[in-house]
Amino acid sequence: MTLMVRYCFFLGITWCLFAAVTEGGGQQSSARRYFDVKNFGARANGKTDDSKAFMAAWAAACHSTGNVRLVVSKGTYLLGPVSFRGPCRFVSSLTFQGYLKATTNLGSYRDSWVEFGWVNRLILTGGIFDGQGASAWPHNTCPKNWNCKLLPTSIKFVSMTNTTVKGITSLNSKFFHVALVGCKGFRGSGIRISAPANSPNTDGIHIEQSQDVTIQQSSVSTGDDCISIGQGNSRITISGITCGPGHGISSVGSLGKYAYEKDVRGLVVRNSILSGTANGVRIKTWANSPGAIVAANMTFENIVMNNVANPIIIDQLYCPYASCASSVPSLVRISDISFKNIRGTSATPVAVMLRCSHGTPCKNVRLQDVHLDHPGRLRSSSTCMNIKAIYSGTQIPPPCSV
Ligand SMILES: *[C@@H]1O[C@H](CO)[C@@H](O)[C@H](O)[C@H]1NC(C)=O
Ligand SMILES: *[C@@H]1O[C@H](CO)[C@@H](O)[C@H](O)[C@H]1NC(C)=O
Repeated sequence: MTLMVRYCFFLGITWCLFAAVTEGGGQQSSARRYFDVKNFGARANGKTDDSKAFMAAWAAACHSTGNVRLVVSKGTYLLGPVSFRGPCRFVSSLTFQGYLKATTNLGSYRDSWVEFGWVNRLILTGGIFDGQGASAWPHNTCPKNWNCKLLPTSIKFVSMTNTTVKGITSLNSKFFHVALVGCKGFRGSGIRISAPANSPNTDGIHIEQSQDVTIQQSSVSTGDDCISIGQGNSRITISGITCGPGHGISSVGSLGKYAYEKDVRGLVVRNSILSGTANGVRIKTWANSPGAIVAANMTFENIVMNNVANPIIIDQLYCPYASCASSVPSLVRISDISFKNIRGTSATPVAVMLRCSHGTPCKNVRLQDVHLDHPGRLRSSSTCMNIKAIYSGTQIPPPCSV
């Protein structure tokens, strides 16, 4: 109650007294302490900005002790940028049953819409996060301009430890749907992501500088990578993903774009289905990448490709802009990569493309039981540069002749 009174000071007395009373009532009927944003002034009418009420409910929950749950009950909530930051004394869970709708005034955003940061053992369940990206997409210059201003990511997790995320939905993000940066211990499941195929930079789940991350049983249809694994990651497991439309599962994102990037080690992608995507499983590093970093120990197994344009692709000459000097080799060292039991159809004749750097050729890349047909042609083919891959089991397309 003392905490409630403190928030009343900050946030206006009328609704706050009401909040204190109802919150106190909830406390008596259950051991768990509930903080419903509606008791902190959220109108849930989809028209009035409820950001302040969310922040007030979070501040109260975060400073509270014991078994705390922040609840966003049914309703439509208009929200500008909000951030749920710790450290908290105890926050066990956030239950979102509401429909969260982002405001469309781009000037009010920095790099994210809903941010969770510096919290230990958070459990986030449910909620529909509608980024209302359609009006923002025409303002995104990143596909053409290296020094673009980034639009806000819808749901961003920063420096979180031991996080669980279940059953959330992200629609039409302005930029990335979900991003993890500097997280340790993260389990995501039942995540549903959707945006049109032509929406720019709407990556589904982007992960960087994180350790011990598991994403499972989730579906992504979007305009960019379904899952993108950036620099500085280790022990990442992705399974049970359905992806498409989209650009596929991009295992190293734009590794090599910046000088300070760190190694990526220990990635497993398995038991997933990609349909109609521009790539299947891809390792890409920028041509002319400045850092001598390592991308190693990655396994891609039990993956079905349906009409995917580049089902298996290592591309060390990646350069979306005319400006990069692609004659300079990427310095990223790729090694210990295995592709196992990858089957289905390729939308282009080259089903397996392994283009490694002439500066640092790929090492120990294994393909086992690959069966990728190209319908309408006699057979699919492979192309290789600066690599001697190791083949076993079925190989359709046939291996590159060395
Ligand atoms: C996260 O969970 C792991 C495994 O249960 C545990 O070893 C670790 O101490 C936890 N980290 C924090 C910061 O609670
Ligand atoms: C490779 O990655 C897997 C999965 O993250 C991990 O279990 C294994 O220990 C790693 N192997 C090496 C040699 O680092």
